[in-house]
Amino acid sequence: MSPESDAPVIPLPMPIPDRESIDPTLDLEAEINRLRKEQNAIILAHYYQDSEIQDLADYVGDSLGLSQQAKQTDADVIAFCGVHFMAETAKILNPEKKVIMPDTDAGCSLADRCPPDVFAEWLKQYPDHKVVSYINTSAAVKALSDIICTSSNAVRVVESLGPDAKVVFAPDRHLGRWVEKKLGREMVKWPGFCVVHEQYTARRLLKMKAEYPDARLVAHPECEQAVLDIADFIGSTTQLINHVVNTTEYDTFIVATEMGVMHQMRKKRPGVKLLGAPPDSGCECAVCPYMRLNTMEKLYLCLRDLEPEVTVPDDIRERALAPVERMLALG
Ligand code: 13P
Ligand code: SF4
Repeated sequence: MSPESDAPVIPLPMPIPDRESIDPTLDLEAEINRLRKEQNAIILAHYYQDSEIQDLADYVGDSLGLSQQAKQTDADVIAFCGVHFMAETAKILNPEKKVIMPDTDAGCSLADRCPPDVFAEWLKQYPDHKVVSYINTSAAVKALSDIICTSSNAVRVVESLGPDAKVVFAPDRHLGRWVEKKLGREMVKWPGFCVVHEQYTARRLLKMKAEYPDARLVAHPECEQAVLDIADFIGSTTQLINHVVNTTEYDTFIVATEMGVMHQMRKKRPGVKLLGAPPDSGCECAVCPYMRLNTMEKLYLCLRDLEPEVTVPDDIRERALAPVERMLALG
């Protein structure tokens, strides 16, 4: 009997295929730089990517900034280091370009838990409502919407519909509630949530604030209301980074969003003290399990092979374009 067949049967994690197929002595950074030139590709990365990927990217930003960059690029290929809905948005805006991403399994709990067929059925109850969808949705859900928003412009987008419009807001209930509070109006909300931001609790954060009384708590609006109620500043990832960089009267910040943003905060304000808000899972910091599926190895492979490619069926793409364009026109 071979030692292998003697081995106990226990569920082990799968080997990482991209590592096995790559020469370990390869200078990945140099190869990625060579391939990006050869393929006339632009690398767009969200702040929740690994710092190595952020440092290599042509542009690093939040979901609004990334869509704006995707709209204006003249590259032939967009290598999108983010999650699937972001790459889909780039494709909606650039049907003639090739959009690739390191790992197309990089989904999002908000987008994945708002299936377009169920959403379409649910919307039938609200025929006289305007539909505002967060960019964290599939292209098919965007196609069912009147206008798209991101965390940096959600308030402005809802306001643009006029004070009397009846509004359905999907899929993030926390962002929706925050917009309601800001505008003093009610909306019908889809009950979605982000698996990363929902893990923060006001209870743990209050303890942390007591421990660090001189720290300022900054939070993403995907956090639940009780957390937002005790935050000193609320904003999208870009807005949180700018706030930490510009609020020089404070040296210490508790950061209630995915820890990838801290890389830019430290780069732009060396010496700043950043404390990751602890999720209620026992871990010390929060990472998005979807975003982190993208790796340098997979980025190299996708630029080399120009796949996996992100595609959107034409009929969906055509219907999704207008609501995305409406948002971009508002800025
Ligand atoms: P931003 O709009 O701040 O980029 O947020 C996107 C996101 O997925 C947050 O979890
Ligand atoms: Fe989606 Fe949350 Fe990950 Fe953002 S952090 S991509 S909302 S799962």
